[in-house]
Amino acid sequence: MKGVIFAEIVRFVEQEFSIEIADAMITKSAVASEGAYTSVGNYPHQEALAMFGALADLLGQPVPVLADYYGFWLSSRFVELYPEMFEGYTDVRTFLRDVDGHHHREVQKLYPDAVPPSVVAVIDGEELTVSYASHRPLADVAFGLIRGYIAYFDDALVVERTDAATGPHAARFIVRAAARPASVAA
Ligand code: HEM
Repeated sequence: MKGVIFAEIVRFVEQEFSIEIADAMITKSAVASEGAYTSVGNYPHQEALAMFGALADLLGQPVPVLADYYGFWLSSRFVELYPEMFEGYTDVRTFLRDVDGHHHREVQKLYPDAVPPSVVAVIDGEELTVSYASHRPLADVAFGLIRGYIAYFDDALVVERTDAATGPHAARFIVRAAARPASVAA
């Protein structure tokens, strides 16, 4: 997996927790690269899992919660790192519909050895179903990214993870309008 994802894990921990916790995470995870990642380099995704595992131990938080938090945080970093990929998008549904066809394709142009996950989004009326599949077990990061882009585009939408495809390698998410309180008339 491309080094940018790893470098951003270290940055995420430094910013959201502390530099000391980031250092402790790297030491505890015993990753071969010792936390020194270049964005164009390629590293085994197991190093990311080892860092999340070490962070979970240090903070006493479950790995899925931290991976989701990372995905949410990473969504706005992608806006800073790859602003051209956001040009022309004004709503989250269209943005999410184009991950496979545009964003991750642009990623492959930037980094020809990248192997991004499959992220297929289908718009059905008011609902958007996003299906994630990867040889890497990073569905929680995908969940956080989707939540992050809903927040970024400021759409009044919510996302729910369904049981249709479960596990860290495959997941399905339904994005729909936030429910109006029952007491408010339509
Ligand atoms: C403009 C928006 C986006 C950019 C710039 C971007 C960029 C990237 C890059 C550079 C990688 C590493 C690929 C590799 O090493 O082979 C990656 C992986 C990944 N992307 Fe995206 N991505 C974007 C949108 C999304 C969205 C909306 C999702 C949500 C479903 C998503 C889910 C993931 C996941 C979960 C990975 C980790 C690798 C894996 O699971 O196999 N990405 N992305």
